Amino acid sequence: MERRRLFVLGPRGQVGWELMRALQPLGEVVGLDRALVDLDQPESLAARLAPRVGDVIINAAAWTAVDAAESQEAQALRINGEAPGALAGIAAQTGALLVHYSTDYVFDGSGSRPWVETDMCAPINAYGRTKLAGERAIAATRADWLILRTSWVYASRGSNFVRTMLRLGAEREALRVVANQIGAPTSARLIADVTAHLIKQSIADRLAGRFESGLFHLTARGQTSWHGFAAAIFDRWPTLSRQAALRVSRLEAIESRDYPTPAARPLNSRLDCQALETRFGLSLPDWQAGLEQVLTELAA
Ligand SMILES: NC(=O)c1ccc[n+]([C@@H]2O[C@H](COP(=O)([O-])OP(=O)(O)OC[C@H]3O[C@@H](n4cnc5c(N)ncnc54)[C@H](OP(=O)(O)O)[C@@H]3O)[C@@H](O)[C@H]2O)c1
Repeated sequence: MERRRLFVLGPRGQVGWELMRALQPLGEVVGLDRALVDLDQPESLAARLAPRVGDVIINAAAWTAVDAAESQEAQALRINGEAPGALAGIAAQTGALLVHYSTDYVFDGSGSRPWVETDMCAPINAYGRTKLAGERAIAATRADWLILRTSWVYASRGSNFVRTMLRLGAEREALRVVANQIGAPTSARLIADVTAHLIKQSIADRLAGRFESGLFHLTARGQTSWHGFAAAIFDRWPTLSRQAALRVSRLEAIESRDYPTPAARPLNSRLDCQALETRFGLSLPDWQAGLEQVLTELAA
C-alpha cells in the first residue's frame, strides 16, 4: 500500500509548524509553503497539489494580519475565502480529506456565554468576514472536511501575544493591557496535537464509511482576558527563565476603547468545545497548561 500523504499548507506558521511535528506518525508529511503553493492564486492550486484518495490536506495558511485586512480585504478574501473553497473542490475531486482552521472572529462578540457552532455568525471586521467566507465555501462542496474554529493562538515562535508581552515586559516598567475582551488562549501545539487525533479518527471513520464532515470549536479550557493572560505570563516567567529579568512592575487594566485598532475586536471570544470533545472523545486541557509548556520552551 502506498504511504498516505498529509499536505500541510503554511508549514512555517504557528499552527503549521506544530503540525509538521504532530502529524509525523500518520504518514508522509509534506510541507508546502507560499513559494510552492500561493493561496493568493486560488486558480493555481489544483496544478500545485496532486492529492490521491485517502490523502489529507491541512490548511494552516491564512491571511492573519487582522488590522491590515481592513484596507486589503480583497486580497485577504482570496486567501481566506476563495482558496479554501478551491482546496475543498480539489479534495472533492480526488477523495482527499480537508482540514481547515477558522476563528471566533466570525461572531460579533456579544453576550457572555461561550459560542456554540450553530450560533449566528456576524463578523465585525474584515478578517472575520473573509474567514466566514472560507467556511461557507468549503461547506458548499461535496468534499469530506473538518473546520476547526480556534482563538487567541500563540506558540514559542511566530508573532503572538506571549512573545510580544515578554519583549515589552523586558523594555518597559508599565504596561496597559485590555481587560474587557475575554477568551481562551490556545497554544498551536494543542491545536496540532488535537488535529492529529481528529485526522487519525477521521481516516478510520472514512474507511468504515461513517465519516461526517463537520465544523467544531477547538480552544483550551477556561477563560481569561488579555490582561489576565499577561499577568499569568509575567507571573510564571521569572521562575522558568534564567534570562534577563523583566522590568515591568505595573500592569494596568484598560478597556478596548482605550486601545483603538483599525479592526474592531470581539469582546466575547469564548468558544464552547463540547461538540468536539463528545464526537472525538477528548478532554481539552486548561489554557494555563499550554502557557506553561510554551514559556518553558521559550526559557530553555
Ligand atoms: N493567530 C490567531 O490568534 C488565530 C486565532 C483564530 C484562528 N486562527 C486561524 O488559525 C490558522 C493558523 O493561524 P496561525 O496563527 O498559525 O497563522 P500564522 O502564524 O500567521 O501563519 C500563517 C501562515 O500562512 C501563510 N500564508 C499567508 N499567506 C499565504 C499565501 N498567500 N499563500 C500561502 N501561504 C500563506 C504564512 O506564510 P509565510 O510564512 O510565508 O508568511 C504563514 O506560514 C489560520 O487559519 C488562522 O486564521 C488564528
